[in-house]
Amino acid sequence: MKRTVREFQKAKGQRLVYVTAYDYPTARLAEEAGVDAILVGDSLGMVVLGYESTVPVTLEEMLHHTKAARRGAPRTFLVADLPYLSYATLEHALQSAKRLIKEGGADAVKLEGGKEVVEVVKGLVRAGVPVLGHVGLTPQTASILGGFRLQGKDLDSARRILEDALALEEAGVFGVVLELVPAPLARLVTERLSVHTIGIGAGPFTDAQVLVFHDLVGLFEGFKPRFVKRYLEAAPLFRQALARYAEEVRSGLFPGEEHSFEMAEEVLQRLYEEDR
Ligand code: KIV
Repeated sequence: MKRTVREFQKAKGQRLVYVTAYDYPTARLAEEAGVDAILVGDSLGMVVLGYESTVPVTLEEMLHHTKAARRGAPRTFLVADLPYLSYATLEHALQSAKRLIKEGGADAVKLEGGKEVVEVVKGLVRAGVPVLGHVGLTPQTASILGGFRLQGKDLDSARRILEDALALEEAGVFGVVLELVPAPLARLVTERLSVHTIGIGAGPFTDAQVLVFHDLVGLFEGFKPRFVKRYLEAAPLFRQALARYAEEVRSGLFPGEEHSFEMAEEVLQRLYEEDR
């Protein structure tokens, strides 16, 4: 049965499982595997659309993929990312969230940032939109943070991440993603928050974990962050299958009799006669 926002909000220490999914078959597999929540992350820009970052991802693209994922996983709690610059003002954020939830079928939205997004979070929550926060490495603004690198190593930045997470909680988020931060900092933030934390590259002490599907099954070969565990090496298997298909078409081995359809002999005869 689909979990509720309330269940997630208070899911401290439960080791919940989030995974990204961006399309019907993947979301369906995730639901069949029994994950607790699906994230239609804007990481889709990099792993399925081939962009170099998440910045170019549009609301229309998020909507398209959210709808597909929802069709694949009708019974799983589904969070959709608000893409870059779709929540710069409260008005814009409300419009964007409305579309992802009403048209896309999402149960909640996620946005990146700390204190600077607090007013937007409050407005969304006041309007009844469940919001997930995201601090630490925030890919939409990774260039300001010096690229895809560990955040919160020194006192100032660690303090900022803790304060940002607390400010988001105060603003009404039902959980906070902690991306690419040291495990002891993630532990401290998790202890200090009463809402659940979801870690990615944040060690084992968060209340939930999230991984990008294409990373965990080895479909994205662009780069492999150290925090990713590959449960499958899918890309070489796909490549082999495609190469075999091409070879069999070229050699005449495919399609075989078992992949072809017959027709009645007399119908065929008539056709040949008419064609003369
Ligand atoms: O876009 C995404 O997939 C994310 C996760 C990495 C948390 O934000």
